[in-house]
Amino acid sequence: MVQPIESAPAEGPPTTAPGTSRGPRRLTRRKILKAGLIGVPAVLGVAAAGTAAVYFAHGVDTVGKVDFDRPLAIPPLAAARTEGGRRVVDLAATASTRQFRPGRPTTTWGFDRGFLGPTVRVNRGDTVQLNVRNGLTDPTTVHWHGLHLPAVMDGGPHQTIAPGAVWRPSWRIDQPAATLWYHPHPHLTSAHHAYRGLAGLFLVDDPPQTAAARLPAQYGVDDIPVIVQDKNFDDDNQFDEGYSRLGSVGILGDTLLVNGTVGPYLDVVTERVRLRLLNASTARVYRFGFSDDRSFALVGTDGGLLSAPHETDRVQLSPGERAEIVVALTAGERVVLRSFAPELGLDPLNERFTGGDDDLDVLQLRAGAQLRPTPAPAATLAPAPALVATADRVDRRFELSGEQINGLSMDMTRIDFGVTRGTTEVWEVVSPFPRPHNFHVHGVQFQLLTVGGTPPPPELRGWKDTFYTPPEVPFRIAVRFDEHANRNAPFMFHCHLLLHEDQNMMGQFVVLEPGETVGSPGHLGHSTAPR
Ligand code: C2O
Ligand code: CU
Repeated sequence: MVQPIESAPAEGPPTTAPGTSRGPRRLTRRKILKAGLIGVPAVLGVAAAGTAAVYFAHGVDTVGKVDFDRPLAIPPLAAARTEGGRRVVDLAATASTRQFRPGRPTTTWGFDRGFLGPTVRVNRGDTVQLNVRNGLTDPTTVHWHGLHLPAVMDGGPHQTIAPGAVWRPSWRIDQPAATLWYHPHPHLTSAHHAYRGLAGLFLVDDPPQTAAARLPAQYGVDDIPVIVQDKNFDDDNQFDEGYSRLGSVGILGDTLLVNGTVGPYLDVVTERVRLRLLNASTARVYRFGFSDDRSFALVGTDGGLLSAPHETDRVQLSPGERAEIVVALTAGERVVLRSFAPELGLDPLNERFTGGDDDLDVLQLRAGAQLRPTPAPAATLAPAPALVATADRVDRRFELSGEQINGLSMDMTRIDFGVTRGTTEVWEVVSPFPRPHNFHVHGVQFQLLTVGGTPPPPELRGWKDTFYTPPEVPFRIAVRFDEHANRNAPFMFHCHLLLHEDQNMMGQFVVLEPGETVGSPGHLGHSTAPR
């Protein structure tokens, strides 16, 4: 039995509420000792020590402390069959257990398996059908994050799947090759469902384009999924769903799982590997790089390949964002993929309480004694996306504050606005206060036009569906819907810190045919049968 996640107030004292795996996280003696505070009370006095303890208890540093003694699990490719011209994939959300560490197995939720789900892989142009069975005792939904599709197939909070029911969304894949993903999106409980393990990759392929871009493309060999999540385990090896009230971003874990593996290493057999990085965490922002600061080629972002590789040594991803990178190795070496303290743009205290000071070892790459030659990525990866608008006007503004958007909380029965099919709108998104948020739009890939009034940096020039919003920096994005109009079926826009989403930091819009007016989502309330 799952209850809605508890809301934490915007500010408040640290809590010591004991004996619960839910609600604000207890600052245990173990944590404080771990933070190296022994002896501080004698020096600073009790009150100051309390403050210091709270401060230090919020930092996580696992650099050099991860054993990397388990082979990285590679999620299997989902079995697909062809039925009446459709690529059909079955997925079942089920409760299970997983042996993450020695001791008692952890109770988990997953698709078809103990934790996470298989990788759905389809080609551009395929018509797909997903048969999603809810084997849980709670209602859930499955959202196809980053896909262009009709809103009734989107798997947002209106497409509830009752326990025992099967939902069969179907649509034609019409978008560039990209690393997309799927995860639950039930009203008020998305964070719980995702945290327990319901998530998987959804890869759109375009083989000629991949070949022309000269990208490693052998799944699990040189084309590697890297699904990064942070967890807290309690003393009995169960996921601890408590969190600190101070940062109010939700759960910040001290143990990383990559594809569900604790302490993972990857045996590398080629001179270059392509890592498909997915931040599937509910709250944590990662800033990926390598332990020796080597550079790598950023080749893709949320919605597809960049027009050209961008050589860099860091790539930052907030919850929900993806990046594809290609990194070169030399025979016999070992190097660690690490998350360096992310740049959240906050003041020191807010940084501290929201993971902004944390350094985390992620994945060790072990290069074999001999590596198969791999070409460098092509200088041109994909056609540069045509600029669909300029930033000289704003059609809509979105202010992210106090877990609300434009002063409003999500209301399942309210559609905030309609956009007309075939038009391009410029949206301005700004987060005025020093709190971490990001912004995600369903059903579309958009382009960033300006960041703080200037052209976006190279890593934000490709197709995006989610971006981090540091305080007081206005982002202008160009959004265009060319199909899938339905005046009654809304798409969501929201903060992808899932606690905030569950605190109703979300709104709804519809795509209208020219001349139509916004309808009402009422009758879609609890549909399980979109077709
Ligand atoms: Cu990945 Cu509305 O979500
Ligand atoms: Cu937020």
